[in-house]
Amino acid sequence: MKNILTGEDIQQAREQGKKEVIFDEKTIVTDIAKEAARRFDIQLVKKEAAPKTATVAEKREPQRATRPPSRASSGGLSREEVMEWKKEFPILDSIIHVGNCSQSPQSKRVRQAIEQYMESWLSIGMDWEYWIEGVIEAKNEFARLINADPVEVAVSTSVSEATSSIASSINWRQEPRKRVITTEAEFPTVNYVWLAHQKYGCKVDFIPVRNGKLELEDYDRLVDEETKMVSTTHVYYQNGFKQDVKAIADIVHSKGSLLLLDDYQSSGTHPIDVREMDIDLLTTGNLKYLLGIPGIAFIYCKKELLEQFKPSVTGWFGQENPFDFHIRYLDYAQGARRFETGTPPVIAAFAANEGMRIINEVGPQRIKEHIEKLSEKALNLGSELGLNVISPFDVTRKGPTTAIQVAEDQDSHHVEEEMKKKNIIVSARGEAVRVAPHFFTLEEEIETVMHELARVLNE
Ligand SMILES: Cc1ncc(COP(=O)(O)O)c(C=O)c1O
Repeated sequence: MKNILTGEDIQQAREQGKKEVIFDEKTIVTDIAKEAARRFDIQLVKKEAAPKTATVAEKREPQRATRPPSRASSGGLSREEVMEWKKEFPILDSIIHVGNCSQSPQSKRVRQAIEQYMESWLSIGMDWEYWIEGVIEAKNEFARLINADPVEVAVSTSVSEATSSIASSINWRQEPRKRVITTEAEFPTVNYVWLAHQKYGCKVDFIPVRNGKLELEDYDRLVDEETKMVSTTHVYYQNGFKQDVKAIADIVHSKGSLLLLDDYQSSGTHPIDVREMDIDLLTTGNLKYLLGIPGIAFIYCKKELLEQFKPSVTGWFGQENPFDFHIRYLDYAQGARRFETGTPPVIAAFAANEGMRIINEVGPQRIKEHIEKLSEKALNLGSELGLNVISPFDVTRKGPTTAIQVAEDQDSHHVEEEMKKKNIIVSARGEAVRVAPHFFTLEEEIETVMHELARVLNE
């Protein structure tokens, strides 16, 4: 039998005047229970079980594929490791997949996680505790990935919805700081959200893209004492340009403003430490480098800031106790869960959890080193082959994407289709074709991709 310690249990313990609640290894302690225990000053004490018995979550965990050989000392993944990891992604047998800026390939483990949900739905019918626990586990895994406290993490369904939740949390009529500074390098959906809030009094300004980059000087020039929020992307979706987040945070904070980072093109490709980078709010989704599927996104919000946010985009899962069923007032959750809305995307959370586990297992630092090697190869070869490379040439200032601009009379989507015929997945966006590898890509595959791309573009 599963054992779950819920907020209600803590409430009961409080009513009984208890100062501690003891639970065993098999017990899953929900976020609500943890929050309630903190609030009522009740200690949660884990009883050590002598012989190790698997928790329900462990029993139901997908079978792990054989682990890759031990880590190389530095410089990303060894060839043997990449070959071992490739076995986890069946499509990589026959395809070179460098379209990860759009959608990563399916892994066996993510597929198994989805099947576990399907199996529970099929055989148990209604298994909400298990399903919701899957969502909580995904939030915990995400917290691990960005070095946050799980209480600082909320689940959402897309970066658009996540940004809307945040934007709707500010009372624009009463807020003395009316400006939001966003950038021309945002994925447009983020700017649409801010522009839609102009009707409530929010004023939107844009940091320009200059030579494919955003300049720190422009942050310093445009962010002022009227600025409530700076909403910016970590990595430019079009050309892979990567920003110095800590430097931006310093500027933004010196003006008394907040920093919201769209990390979608970066999550899963290098280490993120929200504390070290001093990020106030962060959004991201899972279908790109985090190896998941559409339908899920996450919000991080710094603990100290949570209380000021009261989203109008809300719902019962954003309330302190969704199961109180009060109908006449709002009672926002204490933690970042206040940004949540309705029934969470369970199936996508099962997939997301497993995808992020893989990333945490491989290690974001090693993925970053691996990707930098691949970037160097793509940039140099692209130039040698005479391709119009529009990405930064400093590999430390770019994410995985190396973008090639197509000629005026060429259509990037046609190029994507032609490459598919050669069993290569690239991603077209606007006038560019993006080559976006991951930790399972080999250097020699980048060579093949660039040569084939040159062939298609010169046809
Ligand atoms: C940086 C970035 N942000 C946001 C999005 C889209 O987010 P969503 O569709 O989850 O709203 C994308 C999609 O490609 C993106 O690259």
